[in-house]
Amino acid sequence: MENKIKEVKKEIVSKSNLIKDLKDIEKLRVEYLGRKGAVTLLLRKLGTLSPKERPKIGQLLNQTKREIEELLKTKEVEIEKLDKEKRLQGEGIDITLPGRKLGRGTAHPINLVLREIEEIFLSLGFKMEEGPEVELDYYNFEALNIPKDHPARDDQDSFYITKDILLRPQTSPVQIRTMENQKPPVRIIATGKCYRRDATDSTHSPMFHQIEGLAVDKDITFGDLKGILTIFVHRMFGEDRKVRFRPGYFPFVEPGAEVDVSCLLCGGKGCKSCGYVGWLEIMGAGVVHPKVLEMVGYDPEEYSGFAFGMGAERIAMLKYGINDIRLFFENDLRFLKQF
Ligand code: DAH
Repeated sequence: MENKIKEVKKEIVSKSNLIKDLKDIEKLRVEYLGRKGAVTLLLRKLGTLSPKERPKIGQLLNQTKREIEELLKTKEVEIEKLDKEKRLQGEGIDITLPGRKLGRGTAHPINLVLREIEEIFLSLGFKMEEGPEVELDYYNFEALNIPKDHPARDDQDSFYITKDILLRPQTSPVQIRTMENQKPPVRIIATGKCYRRDATDSTHSPMFHQIEGLAVDKDITFGDLKGILTIFVHRMFGEDRKVRFRPGYFPFVEPGAEVDVSCLLCGGKGCKSCGYVGWLEIMGAGVVHPKVLEMVGYDPEEYSGFAFGMGAERIAMLKYGINDIRLFFENDLRFLKQF
């Protein structure tokens, strides 16, 4: 019996060297320690031994059983470790590589320009206002002294939703909405999206942004308009810029003006960028038409005002030297990241 036990032990030790995976271990466990396993069968035979032999053999057998259990456990741990290493190698992650950086976003150039313009006018005592992009015909035309048969309605080529509702083609209707809700003095600017049925090219986009300004108070004159806009141009484009006011027609102002800035490239001498005239047009402006004041219930005898409106894309193109408006809306990161 003692020899048999030693034999079993030798056998399992040599078999354990051939173990390749967890299944092999389970097989050996059944073969030796299972219900019909070699060790179990020997244990059962203990009863047939003489009382003298039994304790010694019993002890030997139990110790052998423990040794086998330990051996199999050790093998199991080894195999699990190897399996894990293999799996990690297969995954091919080099944890010493530096992590991937998340790109940081930058503000869109149009937003930068809007912010800058807002800051300039806020510092001059203006307040921010806003109005809806889906606008009533009344606010966009009627109340701005553009009656039904007025040719300016064709010029503006708007997107209509119904006969009386349209996507606003300008921010000027915010003037009316503001004056309807406030008593003078009024000093506001309003920025936002505008829409026109323009074919897209290097200077036209069906959606663009405008900045509208309005000041109404007692004794406001064209001189105030010139002063404020000159300060604006100097802060936006530089102190050495010249500003020019040319007569211009807009139904809601009288007199109306188109405002030019001396060319940013040639400084006024004339170059390709300004069409050899030395000036670049940047906005429309004027003294608020008495009819507009009447429409909102202001007394034109008591109050007067000035208004102006400009395109954010045009300002950004001049400021940053961009020659195609489409760049603002294509969202090519190589373009956007420069700002
Ligand atoms: N709304 C005009 C446009 O889109 C721009 C404009 C001109 C606004 C004169 C004004 C203004 O407030 O006084 O062409």
